[in-house]
Amino acid sequence: MSRGLPPLYLNKYFKSQGDAWHLNPEVKAMVEFRSLNLVGQWGFMPPLDLVFIRNVMIYFDTETKKAILKKLRACMLPHGALFLGSAETTMNLDPAWTASQYGNATVYTIKAAA
Ligand SMILES: C[S@@+](CC[C@H](N)C(=O)[O-])C[C@H]1O[C@@H](n2cnc3c(N)ncnc32)[C@H](O)[C@@H]1O
Repeated sequence: MSRGLPPLYLNKYFKSQGDAWHLNPEVKAMVEFRSLNLVGQWGFMPPLDLVFIRNVMIYFDTETKKAILKKLRACMLPHGALFLGSAETTMNLDPAWTASQYGNATVYTIKAAA
């Protein structure tokens, strides 16, 4: 909340209650919340437009990171975008991804097949 969300969107989509911010029920109703263990078998995944796993891969060893990026790649739509933490990268893990700047963020997309 304190890292760049413009006040217009903060007030439009969230309500403050005590120390917490709550997403508006109308937006929540459009979202299906499920948990996923990134390690191991994923089972069925719908095609993904956007993936945010900021500061999640920092926990994993190189082989696990490679496996996660490979599984993500299989689920991403061609225009799909992956956001990682600022200290994370796909570099030296999976050459299929390419990085570009989107504002202050780095966005990873899958390179088009040659
Ligand atoms: C440092 S927090 C980052 C949280 C949030 N993405 C952020 O940037 O503020 C790391 C997150 O990784 C999640 N995590 C750790 N191991 C995981 C796994 N095997 N599968 C899915 N998520 C995992 C934890 O539940 C935790 O929410």
